[in-house]
Amino acid sequence: MERIKLHDKEFKVIIPHSQIQESIKSVAKQINNDYKNCDTPLFLSVLNGAFMFSADLMKNIDFNCEISFIKLSSYSGTESTGVVNEIIGLGTELNGRDVIVIEDIVDTGGTVENLHDMLIKKGVKSVKICTLLLKPDAYKKDIPIDYAAIRIPNDFIVGYGLDYDELGRNYKDIYVLDPK
Ligand code: IMP
Ligand code: MG
Repeated sequence: MERIKLHDKEFKVIIPHSQIQESIKSVAKQINNDYKNCDTPLFLSVLNGAFMFSADLMKNIDFNCEISFIKLSSYSGTESTGVVNEIIGLGTELNGRDVIVIEDIVDTGGTVENLHDMLIKKGVKSVKICTLLLKPDAYKKDIPIDYAAIRIPNDFIVGYGLDYDELGRNYKDIYVLDPK
């Protein structure tokens, strides 16, 4: 679909599904190379936004690994609140693990910074960040974003897991706000 309407706003396609898949393959190639000698790394997928990206990324990972799903909360409407809550639903021991965080999008970086610090406190051996989307102009933190599949301008986008007030996550393309 070229255009979608979610609540009161209209969006148009900006990144088609095929381009998303190509970018994921290239980021997976880097991860496969970096972790080939690592003992069972743990992917930590940040719900809800990263669910679709995580599934497609994992299909391109070719070493033995584990995946867990966690939930955080920092967003309301179209603006980041900057406040991140504790990790919800993590039943996996993190001490001594090599962790790769899977995020849908890194905007100001508040979420990844908080999560990164929480993981260090839990005694992980290493932590790297893998995000589908990065807004370099909005990113204000020092945590390295090790793997960013796609860089985008400072626009509000939806689709492929990302939402506008919970709508839009199901669409396979990525859309940008298109004010009429
Ligand atoms: P940050 O803490 O400002 O980096 O925001 C990160 C979180 O905000 C992401 O995990 C998303 O859930 C959400 N987010 C940031 N930008 C967008 C966007 O353009 N569309 C939808 N959600 C977004
Ligand atoms: Mg998110």
